[in-house]
Amino acid sequence: MTEGISVAVQDIVIDRSIAKSLTHQITDNLRDAILNGHLKEGSRLPSWLDMATQLGVARGTVKAAYETLADEALVFSAGAAGTRVAKPRSRQAGAAPVRIKRPLEGFERGFDLSPLPFQMGVPAQDAFPAKLWSRVRMRVVREEASAPGGPPDPRGHPMLRTQIASYLSIARGIRCHPDQIIVTSGYRNGLSVALMTLQCHGRKGWVEDPGYPLARMALQLAGMCAVAVPVDGDGLDVGAGISMAADAAVAIVTPGQHAPTGVAMSAARRRQLLDWAVREDAWIIEDDYLSELQLSGRARNALAADDDRGRVIHLGTFSKTLSPTLGLGFVVAPMELAERFGEVAGCLNPASNSTTQLALAEFLADGHYLRHLRHMKTLYRERSHALHCDLGPAFGSDAMAGLAVLTRLPTGTDDVALCRLALEAGINPAPLSPWYTREAGRHAGLLLGITNLNRARLQPACEALKSLIANEIGPIPKRPH
Ligand SMILES: Cc1ncc(COP(=O)(O)O)c(C=O)c1O
Repeated sequence: MTEGISVAVQDIVIDRSIAKSLTHQITDNLRDAILNGHLKEGSRLPSWLDMATQLGVARGTVKAAYETLADEALVFSAGAAGTRVAKPRSRQAGAAPVRIKRPLEGFERGFDLSPLPFQMGVPAQDAFPAKLWSRVRMRVVREEASAPGGPPDPRGHPMLRTQIASYLSIARGIRCHPDQIIVTSGYRNGLSVALMTLQCHGRKGWVEDPGYPLARMALQLAGMCAVAVPVDGDGLDVGAGISMAADAAVAIVTPGQHAPTGVAMSAARRRQLLDWAVREDAWIIEDDYLSELQLSGRARNALAADDDRGRVIHLGTFSKTLSPTLGLGFVVAPMELAERFGEVAGCLNPASNSTTQLALAEFLADGHYLRHLRHMKTLYRERSHALHCDLGPAFGSDAMAGLAVLTRLPTGTDDVALCRLALEAGINPAPLSPWYTREAGRHAGLLLGITNLNRARLQPACEALKSLIANEIGPIPKRPH
């Protein structure tokens, strides 16, 4: 082993203005230096503390970078002799090790792990109607097993499409025919089918800024150019969108409850958006991820309910209202596009697993779904109230943002690194900054999911959060209201 020369910290270039986390940037810098031979076998890396101090980042940020490199067998811990560059075991003849990124790296803690306190996007695990659901599902399994099965309708089972259409007319104000409904595996799958149907390769698409990062990525994967349109207290700023890219082919919006701020799009903006779409022959893709699950007051009708000119493609999901493990959602296509959507489903995206579809159809038909949503609203209101009480006014939290509490942090805070440290403390808040596309107006903050904060978890979770913030940031300045 060569005796150690430390890597020069000034060779590590980090850029706080880009969406990539500081941990990833440090990891990539060190990986490149190791793979291109700049850092030789046995070279000693600085301690986490030294590197963190010199780079002006949290210790946990550097620690996480070293851990990733150790997982890739590029470095190893030599006890008191520090962290050292490993022998180039599988790096023969200049071949770089193959590393395939998890597709949602940076957005998810990991797949198939049970949710931690503050985790977003997963409904209350302790309130899933498990017994009822298993009873309904078992009955369907028995019925299906004893009936001959022909090729299923790729748009989804007719019974489920009929039930979804009648649910939408009651709960979201949408009047549609079951033939306009395509069953999907959730919102993202619906978005994929919509983009395949529209074939807008090379065109522009509006996304909200801040907004759901995967919507931006989806447009890019479909060969489109994402235009980040600012969002204010009335929702998407349609006027700004028109001045940035009036000729966009689509706009992806969350009008019911903007993700992540929770703002509902005003009636005037809804009209302005629909008028723009008619004028420009553009399509509006409505992400109705929370459906009627709104905690304050009565949820407004969906945007598709106001659309009498057939410009809105409405996307729904049962991931947030029932469970992401069901893998079920739906598209409501405008009449003009319904047949085309059916062709795309039949060719590339047939609805899956008719047993689960039929079980859900029964669940809806028997009124269990509406009852479940009512119960969830009450439970989530209690949980959000308890969280606000426990955090106290000094914490500076905003009102509810969907099913999360949004807490803004002082400008310059590395909220991504903070959330990595939070994981070590057993809590999983989400960072706010990756939801922004443009630097202008980017805020640091935490999104604190309330769904899985039952009584037993609440207090320890809040204690862990408060002490993390006190240690890493200090007191949060009170924001004027
Ligand atoms: C705004 C928004 N839309 C859609 C989704 C994803 O829904 P699905 O899991 O059904 O694809 C999420 C998930 O967190 C979300 O936050």
